Amino acid sequence: MRSATAGFEFLLNGKLVRNNAVAPQVTLLDYLRGRGLTGAKEGCAEGECGACAVLFVGSAVGSARHPSVYRPVNSCLIPVPAASGCEIYTVEALAESGKLCDAQRAMAERGGSQCGYCTPGFVVSMFAEQFRQCDSGFDPHGLGGNLCRCTGYRPIRDAMQSLGPPPDTPMRRRLELPAPTVDPLRYETAEGRFSRPCDLGECLNLATERIARVAEDDAVQFVAGNTDLGVMTNLRHRRFRHLISLDGIPALRGFSDTDDAIEIGAGLTLTEIGDRWPGAPDFFRDWLRLFASPLIRNRATLGGNLATASPIGDAAPLLLALDAELVVSGVNGERTIPLHSFYVAYRQTVLQRGEVILSVRIPKPLPDFVRFYKVAKRRVDDISTVAAGIAIRTEESGRILTARIAFGGVGPIPLRVPDAEQAIADGDAERAKDILRANIRPMSDHRGSAGYRLSMACSLVDKFNWEYRKRGRQ
Ligand SMILES: Cc1cc2nc3c(=O)[nH]c(=O)nc-3n(C[C@H](O)[C@H](O)[C@H](O)COP(=O)(O)OP(=O)(O)OC[C@H]3O[C@@H](n4cnc5c(N)ncnc54)[C@H](O)[C@@H]3O)c2cc1C
Ligand code: FES
Ligand code: FES
Repeated sequence: MRSATAGFEFLLNGKLVRNNAVAPQVTLLDYLRGRGLTGAKEGCAEGECGACAVLFVGSAVGSARHPSVYRPVNSCLIPVPAASGCEIYTVEALAESGKLCDAQRAMAERGGSQCGYCTPGFVVSMFAEQFRQCDSGFDPHGLGGNLCRCTGYRPIRDAMQSLGPPPDTPMRRRLELPAPTVDPLRYETAEGRFSRPCDLGECLNLATERIARVAEDDAVQFVAGNTDLGVMTNLRHRRFRHLISLDGIPALRGFSDTDDAIEIGAGLTLTEIGDRWPGAPDFFRDWLRLFASPLIRNRATLGGNLATASPIGDAAPLLLALDAELVVSGVNGERTIPLHSFYVAYRQTVLQRGEVILSVRIPKPLPDFVRFYKVAKRRVDDISTVAAGIAIRTEESGRILTARIAFGGVGPIPLRVPDAEQAIADGDAERAKDILRANIRPMSDHRGSAGYRLSMACSLVDKFNWEYRKRGRQ
């Protein structure tokens, strides 16, 4: 570990920058703008608009020719010390030798910009998408995290679609070199601490040691992608005295797919999970696409989604339907917790103070028919109003052996409804809906009334039933 006052450094637009006085809560966006790099803008400060997008150089999976990839992320949701050891490019660096990059030129020529507030963010996402093409094709959802209030999306989409393969520039050749690896860090200013242990034991000791020395519950916080905590910091002005970053701990970054189980490191980002699991079943790929936007998925982790215990988080309904369990670790050792007993009350889990989720284990064989449904105000880049994971195991004759049905958004915690599961296993969707009506008590909020949520939950049962029967006839 470096000494507590050592400061940190990272590569910014190809130049090393060193810091030892910036408060740990300052966002990367504010830091960049304070240095005069004002291309990245603040539109929302909560990860919704993409105006603040910048590029991180990350590791690519499965390409020996291009071991690195540009990952666009929302700089408003990154505490500056989390950039320690990273390599970052802002929109200012994309016009190499003063010549507009393809994305910038295409946006100008095709009328993709009016007031221009969103434009740098779009250019950053487009650039990443163009340079990602070297290994796989153009993804039309690559711009899913960028919002524009005035131009309209057609010219922006046209600009994106006009781009060819990445040109042979220094920025492309950079991808032929490995991405930086993260180093341990201990950083402290008068405003707070930021630690990045790179060893699990050290992480757990650090958490316990600090918890013993401070009174407030939230004085010490694990942080992974910061896409939940960052919103609390920016919009609700929560300040954590000590953030312990989990991104350097190898024990949280494994992935394995064996005969018995799929085990996903809790510290992998959603993008990394997609990359590490190329053979993932369609239902999982669909789930991934519906989760936020690429800008969020490039930072958000599975462990963070489960630990934050939001009743409208998307991971829990699917993983509950898959009978997943969590491997967690604390100073007293490791334990395994079935996900269905993980949540105890609104935003509360059975995790003890200082315990960390190491991985999520999905038992195999996977169920025979699985669906994840998400009801939200927008199809992508939105949080669920109601979500459902439904899974069926059948025997060879086609007879249903077991069913699982789990919901988010219908109560204070994500939950399974065992009586409805039995009704679905019996092939009786009407009874399953009656059971839901009698048993679930959703809340009303700005996303949807209790009545709306209940009727959505019932209609998802109908949808599943219809899709399952249709499959049976194919
Ligand atoms: C614009 C936007 C869109 C979003 N869209 C969606 C969406 O579509 N679906 C959805 O479900 N969520 C969505 N979210 C919420 C958020 O992105 C996810 O919950 C994300 O997975 C959180 O992961 P993180 O790594 O960023 O967590 P952090 O913000 O880093 O941490 C969240 C909490 O989990 C704890 N924690 C993190 N990792 C661990 C661990 N391994 N062990 C123990 N505790 C841990 C932290 O201490 C903290 O309390 C969205 C958020 C934003 C800002
Ligand atoms: S300012 Fe809107 S996503 Fe960062
Ligand atoms: S050009 Fe004005 S917000 Fe997009």
